[in-house]
Amino acid sequence: MDSFAGRIAVVTGGGSGMGRELVLQLAAQGCSVATCDVNADGLTETARRAQKEAPDGTRVTTHLCDVSDETQVTRFRDEVVEQHETDHVHLVFNNAGIGGGASFVTGDREEWDRTFAVCWGGVYNCSRAFVPLLVASDDGYLVNTSSVNGFWATLGPGFPHTAYSTAKFAVKGFSEALLEDFRIYAPHVKVAVVMPGHIGTDIVTNSRRLHGQPDPDRMSDAELDEMRADLARRGLAMELADHELRGFMKMVGEGFRENAPTSAAEAATIILEGVLAGEWRILVGDDAHRIDAEVRADPEGIYRSSKPLLAPPV
Ligand SMILES: NC(=O)c1ccc[n+]([C@@H]2O[C@H](COP(=O)([O-])OP(=O)(O)OC[C@H]3O[C@@H](n4cnc5c(N)ncnc54)[C@H](O)[C@@H]3O)[C@@H](O)[C@H]2O)c1
Repeated sequence: MDSFAGRIAVVTGGGSGMGRELVLQLAAQGCSVATCDVNADGLTETARRAQKEAPDGTRVTTHLCDVSDETQVTRFRDEVVEQHETDHVHLVFNNAGIGGGASFVTGDREEWDRTFAVCWGGVYNCSRAFVPLLVASDDGYLVNTSSVNGFWATLGPGFPHTAYSTAKFAVKGFSEALLEDFRIYAPHVKVAVVMPGHIGTDIVTNSRRLHGQPDPDRMSDAELDEMRADLARRGLAMELADHELRGFMKMVGEGFRENAPTSAAEAATIILEGVLAGEWRILVGDDAHRIDAEVRADPEGIYRSSKPLLAPPV
């Protein structure tokens, strides 16, 4: 694929972060986009900004859809076919995701299952729904977002991330398995796995909200005590008053976005350049390249190391 102009793309999770930036950059290059999210306000803002920059004739449609729910994904696919008056699409970006499910041992099962259902189930459901439309095109590309947690299954010492990492390994494995499948049965369709490092988005705050966790200002005494106990188990015993702990929690969410080495817009540009270059493995950020090299150099030792490879979000 040498240009996005005149193509039709599907982007999941387009209401924020990298998904929003993918929509904006694709539309600005004359690619029609259908994007879904569970956040209606986020979608409206994305569409407003995308339409301002898009050349005439470029369509941007928004769709409320929870990618972990196959019935909703099927409806989303049907809306795309109808609203874009098409029987095919050229690009599918399986981008929607949430963090969560940190500990398999002590964590809440509902949170674990929801994280896995969105991060893996969403990629699976959307691939089931949209791969036939990619196959129906003359030139298709499936782009699945994994993470550095798809080759390194922790956020570092003291920070297990079990549901997310398990899902992201699945996304990577599925994408690599499709390489040969497409080569034999749909040679005009390509697949890529995207492995971002730390990217400046609101994923920490968004994930808390989507798991139904309270805003730090509304955390109860019991929730604050549990947070203190959890930080202590991770070796981060801090003598913080309630208001300081609430401030710390907010800072983690905002700091995750503001202190990232790569912005969401830069990440989207790297992803789209990788697609135009025909790559199947798109690493995003110097940190992703570094962690990939460190894991390959010492695959066993990487889990014994007490050295954090990423700035630890909570
Ligand atoms: N930000 C990072 O550092 C980072 C690193 C590696 C991988 N990733 C991955 O990149 C992708 C994009 O994340 P982001 O950082 O832009 O986060 P983000 O929170 O800014 O954007 C994700 C979007 O997905 C949406 N979403 C969540 N659950 C959904 C569902 N069930 N159905 C539909 N939409 C849903 C959210 O509402 C949000 O708008 C995710 O798959 C994430 O796991 C992010």
